[in-house]
Amino acid sequence: MAKTWLDLEKKTVIVTGGVSGIGRAIAEGFAEQGSNVVIADVNPEGEEVIKELPGGAEKHLFIKTDVTDYDNVKAMVAKTVDTYGKVDVLVNNAGINFPRLLVDPEDPEGKYELNEKEFDLMVAINQKGVFLCAQAVAREMVKEGKGVIINMSSESGLEGSEGQSCYAATKAALYSFTRSWAKELGKHGIRVVGIAPGIMEKTALRSLEYEEALAYTRGKTVEELRAGYKKVSVPLGREGKLKEVADLTCFLASDRASYIHGVTYNITGGKSRG
Ligand SMILES: NC(=O)c1ccc[n+]([C@@H]2O[C@H](COP(=O)([O-])OP(=O)(O)OC[C@H]3O[C@@H](n4cnc5c(N)ncnc54)[C@H](O)[C@@H]3O)[C@@H](O)[C@H]2O)c1
Repeated sequence: MAKTWLDLEKKTVIVTGGVSGIGRAIAEGFAEQGSNVVIADVNPEGEEVIKELPGGAEKHLFIKTDVTDYDNVKAMVAKTVDTYGKVDVLVNNAGINFPRLLVDPEDPEGKYELNEKEFDLMVAINQKGVFLCAQAVAREMVKEGKGVIINMSSESGLEGSEGQSCYAATKAALYSFTRSWAKELGKHGIRVVGIAPGIMEKTALRSLEYEEALAYTRGKTVEELRAGYKKVSVPLGREGKLKEVADLTCFLASDRASYIHGVTYNITGGKSRG
Protein backbone atom coordinates (compact mmCIF):
# COMPACT_ATOMS: atom_id res chain seq x y z
CA MET A 1 0.00 0.00 0.00
CA ALA A 2 1.31 3.42 -0.95
CA LYS A 3 1.70 5.72 2.07
CA THR A 4 0.86 8.78 0.02
CA TRP A 5 -0.82 9.23 -3.33
CA LEU A 6 2.49 9.87 -5.11
CA ASP A 7 4.48 7.39 -2.99
CA LEU A 8 7.81 9.15 -3.57
CA GLU A 9 9.16 8.45 -0.08
CA LYS A 10 12.72 7.12 -0.12
CA LYS A 11 13.06 7.69 -3.87
CA THR A 12 16.41 9.19 -4.84
CA VAL A 13 16.04 12.18 -7.13
CA ILE A 14 18.81 14.14 -8.84
CA VAL A 15 17.85 17.70 -9.76
CA THR A 16 20.37 19.53 -11.94
CA GLY A 17 20.32 23.30 -11.50
CA GLY A 18 18.47 22.78 -8.22
CA VAL A 19 19.95 25.81 -6.47
CA SER A 20 17.68 28.37 -8.08
CA GLY A 21 14.29 28.99 -9.63
CA ILE A 22 12.32 26.06 -11.04
CA GLY A 23 14.99 23.53 -9.99
CA ARG A 24 14.87 24.72 -6.41
CA ALA A 25 11.07 24.48 -6.35
CA ILE A 26 11.37 20.94 -7.73
CA ALA A 27 13.94 20.02 -5.07
CA GLU A 28 11.54 21.34 -2.40
CA GLY A 29 8.64 19.46 -3.96
CA PHE A 30 10.44 16.10 -3.82
CA ALA A 31 11.81 16.78 -0.32
CA GLU A 32 8.25 17.48 0.88
CA GLN A 33 7.27 14.08 -0.52
CA GLY A 34 10.01 12.41 1.54
CA SER A 35 12.43 11.74 -1.33
CA ASN A 36 16.21 11.92 -1.01
CA VAL A 37 17.20 14.93 -3.11
CA VAL A 38 20.58 15.41 -4.76
CA ILE A 39 21.14 18.92 -6.03
CA ALA A 40 23.73 18.96 -8.82
CA ASP A 41 24.61 22.56 -9.63
CA VAL A 42 27.67 24.70 -10.39
CA ASN A 43 26.57 27.19 -7.76
CA PRO A 44 28.18 26.34 -4.37
CA GLU A 45 25.17 27.88 -2.57
CA GLY A 46 23.63 24.43 -2.98
CA GLU A 47 25.34 23.56 0.31
CA GLU A 48 22.98 26.02 2.04
CA VAL A 49 19.94 25.14 -0.07
CA ILE A 50 19.90 21.50 1.05
CA LYS A 51 19.89 22.60 4.71
CA GLU A 52 16.63 24.43 4.05
CA LEU A 53 14.85 21.48 2.44
CA PRO A 54 12.53 19.41 4.66
CA GLY A 55 14.87 16.73 6.05
CA GLY A 56 17.94 19.01 5.81
CA ALA A 57 21.56 18.15 5.13
CA GLU A 58 21.33 14.81 6.96
CA LYS A 59 18.95 13.54 4.30
CA HIS A 60 19.81 15.44 1.13
CA LEU A 61 23.04 15.98 -0.78
CA PHE A 62 24.58 18.84 -2.70
CA ILE A 63 27.19 17.86 -5.27
CA LYS A 64 28.91 20.74 -7.03
CA THR A 65 28.60 19.75 -10.67
CA ASP A 66 29.11 21.35 -14.04
CA VAL A 67 26.71 19.44 -16.28
CA THR A 68 28.86 20.18 -19.33
CA ASP A 69 31.79 18.22 -17.91
CA TYR A 70 31.82 14.43 -18.44
CA ASP A 71 34.03 13.63 -15.41
CA ASN A 72 32.03 15.94 -13.13
CA VAL A 73 28.77 14.29 -14.13
CA LYS A 74 30.20 10.79 -13.79
CA ALA A 75 31.52 11.59 -10.30
CA MET A 76 28.17 13.14 -9.29
CA VAL A 77 26.25 10.02 -10.27
CA ALA A 78 28.83 7.74 -8.59
CA LYS A 79 28.53 9.72 -5.34
CA THR A 80 24.74 9.55 -5.49
CA VAL A 81 24.78 5.77 -5.95
CA ASP A 82 27.41 5.42 -3.25
CA THR A 83 25.24 7.40 -0.83
CA TYR A 84 21.73 6.12 -1.62
CA GLY A 85 22.32 2.87 -3.53
CA LYS A 86 20.51 3.88 -6.72
CA VAL A 87 18.97 6.74 -8.72
CA ASP A 88 15.19 6.63 -9.19
CA VAL A 89 14.62 9.98 -10.90
CA LEU A 90 16.76 12.43 -12.86
CA VAL A 91 15.41 15.92 -13.48
CA ASN A 92 17.50 17.53 -16.23
CA ASN A 93 16.70 21.12 -15.30
CA ALA A 94 19.92 23.18 -15.51
CA GLY A 95 19.72 25.71 -18.32
CA ILE A 96 20.72 29.19 -19.45
CA ASN A 97 19.36 31.71 -21.94
CA PHE A 98 20.97 34.72 -23.64
CA PRO A 99 18.38 36.49 -25.83
CA ARG A 100 20.11 37.37 -29.11
CA LEU A 101 19.14 38.21 -32.70
CA LEU A 102 20.48 36.22 -35.61
CA VAL A 103 21.37 39.52 -37.29
CA ASP A 104 21.13 43.03 -35.93
CA PRO A 105 21.14 45.50 -38.83
CA GLU A 106 21.37 48.38 -36.32
CA ASP A 107 24.50 46.96 -34.71
CA PRO A 108 26.13 44.17 -36.75
CA GLU A 109 28.29 41.89 -34.61
CA GLY A 110 27.12 43.96 -31.64
CA LYS A 111 26.04 43.11 -28.11
CA TYR A 112 22.73 41.51 -29.04
CA GLU A 113 23.75 39.56 -32.13
CA LEU A 114 24.15 35.84 -31.48
CA ASN A 115 27.85 35.01 -31.35
CA GLU A 116 29.63 31.69 -31.51
CA LYS A 117 30.78 31.69 -27.89
CA GLU A 118 27.27 32.23 -26.52
CA PHE A 119 25.83 29.73 -28.97
CA ASP A 120 28.34 27.09 -27.81
CA LEU A 121 27.65 27.77 -24.13
CA MET A 122 23.86 27.50 -24.52
CA VAL A 123 24.23 24.24 -26.45
CA ALA A 124 26.77 22.91 -23.93
CA ILE A 125 24.56 23.48 -20.87
CA ASN A 126 21.06 23.08 -22.31
CA GLN A 127 21.69 20.17 -24.66
CA LYS A 128 25.04 18.44 -24.07
CA GLY A 129 24.56 18.63 -20.29
CA VAL A 130 21.21 16.86 -20.63
CA PHE A 131 22.85 14.12 -22.70
CA LEU A 132 25.75 13.64 -20.25
CA CYS A 133 23.47 13.45 -17.20
CA ALA A 134 20.92 11.19 -18.89
CA GLN A 135 23.61 8.80 -20.08
CA ALA A 136 25.40 8.57 -16.73
CA VAL A 137 22.12 8.05 -14.87
CA ALA A 138 20.59 5.66 -17.42
CA ARG A 139 23.66 3.41 -17.06
CA GLU A 140 22.63 2.98 -13.41
CA MET A 141 18.89 2.76 -14.08
CA VAL A 142 19.24 -0.11 -16.56
CA LYS A 143 20.88 -2.16 -13.80
CA GLU A 144 17.76 -1.63 -11.66
CA GLY A 145 15.35 -2.11 -14.56
CA LYS A 146 13.50 1.09 -13.68
CA GLY A 147 13.74 4.84 -13.41
CA VAL A 148 12.36 8.12 -14.70
CA ILE A 149 14.21 10.84 -16.64
CA ILE A 150 12.52 14.23 -16.89
CA ASN A 151 13.85 16.85 -19.33
CA MET A 152 13.06 20.52 -18.69
CA SER A 153 12.31 21.91 -22.11
CA SER A 154 10.40 25.11 -22.88
CA GLU A 155 7.27 26.07 -24.74
CA SER A 156 9.60 28.02 -27.04
CA GLY A 157 11.14 24.73 -28.19
CA LEU A 158 8.20 23.98 -30.47
CA GLU A 159 6.87 27.49 -30.94
CA GLY A 160 10.16 29.22 -31.74
CA SER A 161 10.85 32.54 -30.05
CA GLU A 162 11.77 35.95 -31.41
CA GLY A 163 15.19 36.87 -30.02
CA GLN A 164 15.77 33.43 -28.53
CA SER A 165 16.47 31.21 -31.53
CA CYS A 166 19.46 29.36 -30.10
CA TYR A 167 17.80 28.83 -26.71
CA ALA A 168 14.60 27.61 -28.37
CA ALA A 169 16.60 25.26 -30.61
CA THR A 170 18.31 23.67 -27.58
CA LYS A 171 14.87 23.20 -26.02
CA ALA A 172 13.50 21.68 -29.25
CA ALA A 173 16.37 19.20 -29.03
CA LEU A 174 14.99 18.07 -25.67
CA TYR A 175 11.60 17.22 -27.23
CA SER A 176 13.54 15.00 -29.58
CA PHE A 177 15.78 13.47 -26.88
CA THR A 178 12.64 12.68 -24.89
CA ARG A 179 10.96 10.91 -27.79
CA SER A 180 14.09 9.01 -28.89
CA TRP A 181 15.25 7.97 -25.43
CA ALA A 182 11.70 6.79 -24.66
CA LYS A 183 12.03 4.43 -27.62
CA GLU A 184 15.46 3.22 -26.46
CA LEU A 185 14.87 3.00 -22.72
CA GLY A 186 11.26 1.84 -22.43
CA LYS A 187 12.35 -1.77 -22.78
CA HIS A 188 14.58 -1.28 -19.72
CA GLY A 189 11.67 -0.04 -17.60
CA ILE A 190 12.86 3.57 -17.78
CA ARG A 191 10.32 6.28 -18.57
CA VAL A 192 11.40 9.53 -20.23
CA VAL A 193 9.18 12.60 -20.18
CA GLY A 194 9.56 16.31 -20.86
CA ILE A 195 8.09 19.45 -19.34
CA ALA A 196 7.70 22.68 -21.30
CA PRO A 197 7.00 25.71 -19.10
CA GLY A 198 5.84 28.99 -20.61
CA ILE A 199 6.07 32.32 -18.80
CA MET A 200 6.85 31.67 -15.16
CA GLU A 201 7.33 33.66 -11.97
CA LYS A 202 10.67 35.43 -11.88
CA THR A 203 13.75 33.23 -11.50
CA ALA A 204 17.46 34.00 -11.71
CA LEU A 205 17.19 33.34 -15.44
CA ARG A 206 14.92 36.35 -15.87
CA SER A 207 17.54 38.90 -14.77
CA LEU A 208 17.43 42.57 -15.78
CA GLU A 209 20.22 41.82 -18.26
CA TYR A 210 18.01 39.10 -19.79
CA GLU A 211 14.96 41.38 -19.94
CA GLU A 212 16.94 44.22 -21.52
CA ALA A 213 18.31 41.86 -24.13
CA LEU A 214 14.92 40.29 -24.90
CA ALA A 215 13.19 43.69 -25.05
CA TYR A 216 15.88 44.93 -27.47
CA THR A 217 15.48 41.94 -29.76
CA ARG A 218 11.72 42.59 -29.92
CA GLY A 219 11.89 46.36 -30.36
CA LYS A 220 10.13 46.93 -27.02
CA THR A 221 10.87 48.56 -23.70
CA VAL A 222 11.40 46.37 -20.65
CA GLU A 223 8.06 47.68 -19.28
CA GLU A 224 6.21 46.65 -22.46
CA LEU A 225 7.86 43.24 -22.30
CA ARG A 226 6.81 42.78 -18.66
CA ALA A 227 3.21 43.82 -19.40
CA GLY A 228 3.08 41.08 -22.02
CA TYR A 229 4.09 38.36 -19.53
CA LYS A 230 0.75 38.43 -17.80
CA LYS A 231 -1.99 39.90 -19.90
CA VAL A 232 -1.34 39.86 -23.59
CA SER A 233 -0.36 36.31 -24.29
CA VAL A 234 -1.49 34.01 -21.45
CA PRO A 235 -5.16 32.89 -21.52
CA LEU A 236 -5.12 32.25 -17.76
CA GLY A 237 -3.95 35.85 -17.33
CA ARG A 238 -1.00 35.23 -15.06
CA GLU A 239 2.51 33.83 -14.87
CA GLY A 240 2.97 30.20 -13.89
CA LYS A 241 4.03 29.44 -10.33
CA LEU A 242 7.28 27.54 -9.84
CA LYS A 243 5.39 25.21 -7.51
CA GLU A 244 3.03 24.34 -10.35
CA VAL A 245 6.00 23.04 -12.34
CA ALA A 246 7.28 21.22 -9.25
CA ASP A 247 3.90 19.53 -8.74
CA LEU A 248 3.82 18.36 -12.37
CA THR A 249 7.38 17.06 -12.05
CA CYS A 250 6.56 15.06 -8.90
CA PHE A 251 3.47 13.61 -10.56
CA LEU A 252 5.37 12.60 -13.72
CA ALA A 253 8.12 11.02 -11.60
CA SER A 254 5.61 8.94 -9.66
CA ASP A 255 4.03 5.61 -10.55
CA ARG A 256 0.73 7.52 -10.93
CA ALA A 257 2.18 8.49 -14.32
CA SER A 258 3.33 4.95 -15.13
CA TYR A 259 2.00 4.94 -18.72
CA ILE A 260 3.24 8.44 -19.62
CA HIS A 261 6.34 8.11 -21.76
CA GLY A 262 8.07 9.90 -24.62
CA VAL A 263 5.92 13.01 -24.42
CA THR A 264 6.54 16.61 -23.35
CA TYR A 265 3.91 18.35 -21.24
CA ASN A 266 3.16 22.02 -21.76
CA ILE A 267 2.60 24.04 -18.60
CA THR A 268 1.83 27.47 -20.00
CA GLY A 269 -1.59 28.65 -18.79
CA GLY A 270 -2.87 27.88 -22.28
CA LYS A 271 -0.38 30.18 -23.99
CA SER A 272 0.59 28.08 -26.96
CA ARG A 273 -0.55 25.37 -29.30
CA GLY A 274 2.04 22.91 -27.86
N1 LIG B 1 11.93 30.54 -15.95
C1 LIG B 1 11.17 30.31 -17.01
O1 LIG B 1 10.28 31.09 -17.33
C2 LIG B 1 11.39 29.06 -17.83
C3 LIG B 1 10.51 28.79 -18.89
C4 LIG B 1 10.70 27.65 -19.66
C5 LIG B 1 11.75 26.79 -19.37
N2 LIG B 1 12.61 27.08 -18.35
C6 LIG B 1 13.73 26.16 -18.08
O2 LIG B 1 13.71 25.77 -16.73
C7 LIG B 1 15.05 25.50 -16.30
C8 LIG B 1 15.34 26.28 -15.04
O3 LIG B 1 15.25 27.67 -15.33
P1 LIG B 1 15.13 28.78 -14.20
O4 LIG B 1 14.31 29.86 -14.76
O5 LIG B 1 14.76 28.18 -12.91
O6 LIG B 1 16.65 29.32 -14.17
P2 LIG B 1 17.62 29.74 -12.99
O7 LIG B 1 18.67 30.56 -13.63
O8 LIG B 1 16.87 30.31 -11.85
O9 LIG B 1 18.24 28.33 -12.54
C9 LIG B 1 19.14 27.62 -13.35
C10 LIG B 1 20.09 26.82 -12.46
O10 LIG B 1 20.98 26.09 -13.32
C11 LIG B 1 22.28 26.17 -12.77
N3 LIG B 1 23.29 25.96 -13.80
C12 LIG B 1 23.64 26.82 -14.80
N4 LIG B 1 24.66 26.29 -15.50
C13 LIG B 1 24.94 25.08 -14.96
C14 LIG B 1 25.89 24.07 -15.25
N5 LIG B 1 26.77 24.21 -16.25
N6 LIG B 1 25.91 22.96 -14.49
C15 LIG B 1 25.04 22.81 -13.45
N7 LIG B 1 24.12 23.74 -13.13
C16 LIG B 1 24.10 24.87 -13.87
C17 LIG B 1 22.35 27.57 -12.16
O11 LIG B 1 23.40 27.68 -11.21
C18 LIG B 1 20.96 27.70 -11.55
O12 LIG B 1 20.92 27.21 -10.22
C19 LIG B 1 15.96 25.86 -17.47
O13 LIG B 1 16.29 24.69 -18.20
C20 LIG B 1 15.10 26.78 -18.31
O14 LIG B 1 15.47 26.79 -19.65
C21 LIG B 1 12.46 28.20 -17.58
